[in-house]
Amino acid sequence: MASPQRPSPLQGGFSARRLISIDDLSDSDIAFLLDLTEHYAGFLKRAEPAPPRLAGKTQINLFFEDSTRTNLSFDLAGKKLGADVVNVPVNASSVHKGESLVDTAQTLAAMSADVMIVRAKEPGLHETLDQLLSCVIVNGGDGVKEHPTQALLDAAAIRSSFGAIEDLTIAICGDVKHSRVAGSDARLFSRLGATVRFVGPAHLMPGDDLLPDIERHYNLRDGLEAADVVMGLRMQFERMDDGGRDAAQGYFDEFGLTHQTIKFAKPGAKIMHPGPMNRGVEIDGALADDKERSLILRQVFYGVAARMAALDALLTS
Ligand code: NCD
Repeated sequence: MASPQRPSPLQGGFSARRLISIDDLSDSDIAFLLDLTEHYAGFLKRAEPAPPRLAGKTQINLFFEDSTRTNLSFDLAGKKLGADVVNVPVNASSVHKGESLVDTAQTLAAMSADVMIVRAKEPGLHETLDQLLSCVIVNGGDGVKEHPTQALLDAAAIRSSFGAIEDLTIAICGDVKHSRVAGSDARLFSRLGATVRFVGPAHLMPGDDLLPDIERHYNLRDGLEAADVVMGLRMQFERMDDGGRDAAQGYFDEFGLTHQTIKFAKPGAKIMHPGPMNRGVEIDGALADDKERSLILRQVFYGVAARMAALDALLTS
């Protein structure tokens, strides 16, 4: 079925055929997606129905790890564009009868899926599915590695607040080591011309071989100096070998984001967090709720628009 026409300013080059890593996107794909995100944000702001560009397409959301924001916003995004969306109830699925993740995905793909959104921690699973299945694979989060649509929505939220990302200084703080958001954000923001810094204690910092070009700061005052944007990260205890027994010990005193510590950054610096937040662990609730400072709910808003853009571009370009 021919897709309804997209308004002329958004016609143009999108070439990616999957979205597993930010590296799957060319510079023009990124520009295209950010413009299309803003286009769909307009529909959401005006509470206007978007054109059913994905009518007749089948989208399967397969989340083997917990999710609130990502799963629900992919669900909404697909539905708003007219797709048939299926959310696989993983806890009640045949995975619990011993079926492998690949077999489960292959079975679902055989139900004529056009796109599968996969969240899983098994290394290499997304690549394997991309090779095996004919549907488009979108990464909804893979272990500690990448979360590309989170990076796109974060970039859209920053752009909507600052006008551009180029030349901004963005400090990503906390448990960088276990954060797929930090990895995808750092890749995307640097490609968009920002200076990105990782800030946190040494035991929560990734190895030097990972994203070696990103500045590392082990002290909050240095890390936040002259930052335009400060992003907090959740302490991802579930990915720590010892269950994170000691990781949070003394963390808030040294690295907690509060109205006091945000003063190390530029006056008026914005606060972000991909959620879920642990108030009082990495961020003070009063700062997170400060409407002047916080872009956190704007990130959630852009989550739907950015996923509408990604699904549309991947399925109809
Ligand atoms: C993040 C994730 O799942 O990687 N959350 C999200 O997708 N909004 C961050 C986290 O779990 O801490």
